Amino acid sequence: MKKIIIAIDGHSSTGKSTVAKKLAKTLNYKYVDTGAMYRTVTLYALRNNLISVAEVEENKLISALNDININFEYNPEENSNDVFLNGENVENEIRKMHVSDHVSAIAKIDKVREKLVAIQQEIGKDKGIVMDGRDIGSVVFPEAELKIFMTASAEVRAERRYQELKKKGENITFEEVFQNVKSRDEVDSSRANSPLIQAKDAIKVDNSEMSQDQQFELILNLAKERIKD
Ligand code: DC
Repeated sequence: MKKIIIAIDGHSSTGKSTVAKKLAKTLNYKYVDTGAMYRTVTLYALRNNLISVAEVEENKLISALNDININFEYNPEENSNDVFLNGENVENEIRKMHVSDHVSAIAKIDKVREKLVAIQQEIGKDKGIVMDGRDIGSVVFPEAELKIFMTASAEVRAERRYQELKKKGENITFEEVFQNVKSRDEVDSSRANSPLIQAKDAIKVDNSEMSQDQQFELILNLAKERIKD
């Protein structure tokens, strides 16, 4: 059967990774969470004091890029891939609020994007892959056979994220999460390099009022159509 590239882009906390993971499992495709890669570089920068209260030490981080080794390994318990930073499993650490608060500032640095886009293109070169992020359909794989652009209202997304973080025991208010979602939207959409935009040939899925099952069925059917073309 023909193998395709499925690019799932969209706003933060729209459930991109949930649908992308399920899709990859159903189709027996690889799954790559590119946000995890930007989060991992952010964690490295935080741990190496390259981010002060308001600013990233951009030049020092660029010089350190060769020291940042990112890879994914399958976690059978979760049935998904965990991200590793220089051999350490950082899957849980990168989801925490201190990383979320700084990741947009890291993701707008050209050299960081260059490095991560090259890794993503290498991982996906044989197709049979579902990749989620912000620029997959527009920059990483402009030739992807299926491009989905997922969105939902900022309130709905913040509520979903808030419930997730509470479940993990983070001490946080809805308002803090809501502000983080809105500020990431703003930075992600307005940055000069690879801003979050809907690719011309992407299909928009607004899931504010859709169940996870409904959106999964919708996207799976689109994928099946492309695979049999
Ligand atoms: O998908 P996420 O929320 O884990 O992504 C974390 C941040 O990384 C998000 O604020 C935008 C950035 N990102 C990006 O710029 N390009 C990607 N392909 C994926 C994520």
